[in-house]
Amino acid sequence: MTKRIRKAVFPVAGLGTRFLPATKAIPKEMLTIVDRPVVQHVVDEARAAGIEHFVFVTGRNKAVIEDHFDMAYELDDTLAKRSKTKELDGLRADLPAAGATSFTRQQAPLGLGHAVWCARDIVGDEPFALLLPDMLHHTHGKGCLAEMIDAYNKHGGNHVAVAPVPEDQTHQYGIVGVENVDAKVSKINKMVEKPPKGTAPSNLHITGRYILQPTIFNLLAHQEKGAGGEIQLTDSMIALSRQEPFHAVRFDGDIYDTGSKIGFLTANIAYALDRGDLGPQLRAEIERLIEG
Ligand code: UTP
Repeated sequence: MTKRIRKAVFPVAGLGTRFLPATKAIPKEMLTIVDRPVVQHVVDEARAAGIEHFVFVTGRNKAVIEDHFDMAYELDDTLAKRSKTKELDGLRADLPAAGATSFTRQQAPLGLGHAVWCARDIVGDEPFALLLPDMLHHTHGKGCLAEMIDAYNKHGGNHVAVAPVPEDQTHQYGIVGVENVDAKVSKINKMVEKPPKGTAPSNLHITGRYILQPTIFNLLAHQEKGAGGEIQLTDSMIALSRQEPFHAVRFDGDIYDTGSKIGFLTANIAYALDRGDLGPQLRAEIERLIEG
């Protein structure tokens, strides 16, 4: 019997240096994809997967994220007085239930592994989901985390979402080798962070969605620095994979790294094209721009 995945961790304490100067005073997780902050899209994915408690690892200059997931009393009141029912209903639908969010601080951006470790007391002794809030997993089908929870309910253990990257780019990613490359869910037999060119066990990269057993916290507690002098999550996952099974769940939708400028811009276009109220007009505008 597997323990239910109730909690999800969202590490939002990074500096977002690739997006300066936009991220000097605004967290990159609050930049908008159409009219919703990036982090809201990822929380939506977690909610759709049945997550009940949302744990944010924040840092300096990130207080606005906490405000975003709180009730804005004056705004609600003004919207009600102006009969802006649709907007008010939208805000209420997005609001997490009382007591369903927790915020902890990573005091210095020492790396993703360190950010996850900062959530250890709030997560406690149960498996949890981890979602990188700058990585959008766009699909018209079941959400990425929902698919992973299905796989976890069947296999237990630890899971990472994976997707193919061009062979000449594998050295930029965390890469896994799997028993069956064609399967939707497959056992991982190798995990390596940024393999030197020509040495990758496959072209499947870890996309930023994880289901992890709480034993990961014991490994992260060593606080060993890895690539770039940061405490890397992948290093502890590699150690954990020697003790516990890991499965790869292939994500078949589109992935946008909104922490990069090109990923952010493309995501905005993709999400807007999907919307009935914006898509047709945007498509016409893009065609006009391209045709010059
Ligand atoms: P990134 O490496 O993409 O974020 O980390 P970054 O460091 O903010 O970005 P750049 O490279 O400087 O532009 C992936 C996620 O992990 C969080 C980030 O906020 C991001 O959502 N993170 C990263 C932390 O919470 N703490 C860290 O120390 C590092």
